[in-house]
Amino acid sequence: MALLEARDVVSGYGDVEIIHGVSIDVASDEIVSIIGPNGAGKSTLMKTLFSLVDCWDGTVTFRGEDVTHDQTSDLSRNGMCYVPQTDNVFPTLSVEENLRMGGYILGDPPKENYERIYNHFPILEERKSQQAGSMSGGQQQMLAIGRALMLDPELLLLDEPSAGLAPDLVDDVFEKIIEINEDDTAILMVEQNARKALKFSDRGYVLEMGENRFEDTGEVLLNDSKVGELYLGG
Ligand SMILES: Nc1ncnc2c1ncn2[C@@H]1O[C@H](COP(=O)(O)OP(=O)(O)OP(=O)(O)O)[C@@H](O)[C@H]1O
Ligand SMILES: [Mg+2]
Repeated sequence: MALLEARDVVSGYGDVEIIHGVSIDVASDEIVSIIGPNGAGKSTLMKTLFSLVDCWDGTVTFRGEDVTHDQTSDLSRNGMCYVPQTDNVFPTLSVEENLRMGGYILGDPPKENYERIYNHFPILEERKSQQAGSMSGGQQQMLAIGRALMLDPELLLLDEPSAGLAPDLVDDVFEKIIEINEDDTAILMVEQNARKALKFSDRGYVLEMGENRFEDTGEVLLNDSKVGELYLGG
C-alpha cells in the first residue's frame, strides 16, 4: 500500500472538467514529480488531492484511509501538507510569524518545530524577525516550505517550488527538498524544471490535458526519447 493513492480522479471548476481520471501513487519514502505542459492540470490535480478543489469522481486514500472528501484542515492535521504555487507566504508578517501561522492548528507550536525548520533552513533563523515580503524569491520559497513543515507532515505536496528562481537557487531549493525527504517526509511535487526534478525523483508522471500520459522512474523518463522531445525540450 502506498502512502498516497489517487485513483481515477475527476475534477474541475464550475461545469468544466479539467482532470479526467488521473491515478497517482506516492510511497512513504519517495520523491515523485508531476511534469507536463502549461495548463495540463497539474495544479488542479494537487488542489484536488488537498481538497481545495472538489473531487467529482475517483478516490484519494492516505495511509489506506479514504480522504477524498476530507477538509483541508483535517488533511494538514493528519500529515498531508501543501505549498501552493503562488501567494504562499504572508508578506507583511515576519518569518517567525509566518511559521507560527503554518502551525496554528497546533495552537502555540512547540519550540522543537521551529528548531527543526531552522536546522533545514538556517537563513530563516537569521532572518526570523524580517518581514517575509522583503526577502528574496528563494528565501520566500524556503519559508513557504518551512511553514508547511511546522506540522511535521508525512507527505508534502509542492506546486512548483522552483518557479521564478535563478538556476543556482533552483539547485538550493532542490537540495533542501532532498534533505526533507531524507528526514522521512514523502514528496509529491509539480515542476517546470522537469529535467532537474526528474534527476532526483524516484518516479515521475507526465500529465497532459488532464490525463496520465507517461509514468516511470525518473531515470527512465529522462532517457525516454518521446518524453524528452515532447516534455523536456529535446
Ligand atoms: N480557478 C479556476 N477556475 C477556472 N478554470 C481554472 C482555474 N484554475 C485553472 N483553471 C483552468 O484549468 C486548466 C488547468 O490549469 P492548471 O493551473 O491546473 O494547469 P497547470 O498544469 O498547473 O499549468 P501551469 O504549468 O501553467 O501551472 C487550465 O485550462 C486553466 O485555465
Ligand atoms: Mg500550475
